[in-house]
Amino acid sequence: MTKEQVLKVLQEHPDAFVSGAALAEQLQLSRTAVWKAIRQLKADGYVIEAVTSQGYRLLSGSDVLSAEGIARYLRHPEIRPQVFPSLTSTNTVLKSLAAEDAPAGTAVLAVTQTAGRGRLGRSFYSPSASGLYLSLLLRPDLAPADASRLTSCAAVAVAEAVSGLSGRETGIKWVNDVYMDGKKICGILTEAGIDLESGRVSYVVVGIGINLRAPEGGFPEEIRNIAGAAFDGLSVPDLRNRLAALVLDRLADYAADPFSDALFDAYAKRSFVPGRKITVLAPGKEPVPAEALRLNRDYSLQVRLEDGREEKLASGEVSIRV
Ligand code: BTN
Repeated sequence: MTKEQVLKVLQEHPDAFVSGAALAEQLQLSRTAVWKAIRQLKADGYVIEAVTSQGYRLLSGSDVLSAEGIARYLRHPEIRPQVFPSLTSTNTVLKSLAAEDAPAGTAVLAVTQTAGRGRLGRSFYSPSASGLYLSLLLRPDLAPADASRLTSCAAVAVAEAVSGLSGRETGIKWVNDVYMDGKKICGILTEAGIDLESGRVSYVVVGIGINLRAPEGGFPEEIRNIAGAAFDGLSVPDLRNRLAALVLDRLADYAADPFSDALFDAYAKRSFVPGRKITVLAPGKEPVPAEALRLNRDYSLQVRLEDGREEKLASGEVSIRV
């Protein structure tokens, strides 16, 4: 593939310039093909400097997602990452693997997703270079009603990992969005398979999408007001591999006991919704104004409606606007 050929030549000349003409001649390619390959490599996370009349230079400090790269940082031996340049959706692919008996700990990551999925049937914008898209397969012994606790595990794992690597504060918007500076930087989609005989969960796929940098040209119009990028303006070497490993490890830590006080305390500490005026959004119903009172131990949200009545909002049924 052209991209790999161009990469190989640049790697043979680390930190030195190779002209576009030299690349084209050596690889028997057109200058346009070379330029396109450079653009794709940049989208993959390679840091390539382009200087008129000198050519292209591959800089160390590139941020390229790979299974070996992630494995270098992972603590949990049972987590086995698989990295793909492009997939429809890491959740969709991992669900197929789960149906073929893949073991717990199988993780699927993609540099870009062509059909990334969000909650409530929405799509999830997943461009290459600017985001991290991953799914982890878990096989917990849980009742289906408790499976959503793993979403809380993921929210805390992402919030802690992003704060740890960026040095920036993160918060959790009930029930599963991670925020930074008033903008959503991460979405989580948890999907489960049920064993009909036992009535227990047979697998859970926890899918996580994190906006690392604002995409070139900005976020699409429809999410411009809510989407933010966690690492904009920050240079963190090997960011994607380190962040992927940190998120997967933290998620596995918390998922080992989704009923733990440690999880609840960590979630509650970052949860910024209690105490705020909110709007409750239920599918097919009018938005309802309410006041968020507190987070219950089962991760439902206790709210007071305008007529003074209290209600318990359960995840999966409603979402809220803050
Ligand atoms: C949401 O905010 O509605 C949830 C978004 C979840 C996106 C992630 S990206 C990795 C995984 N694969 C998907 O198709 N979706 C999740």
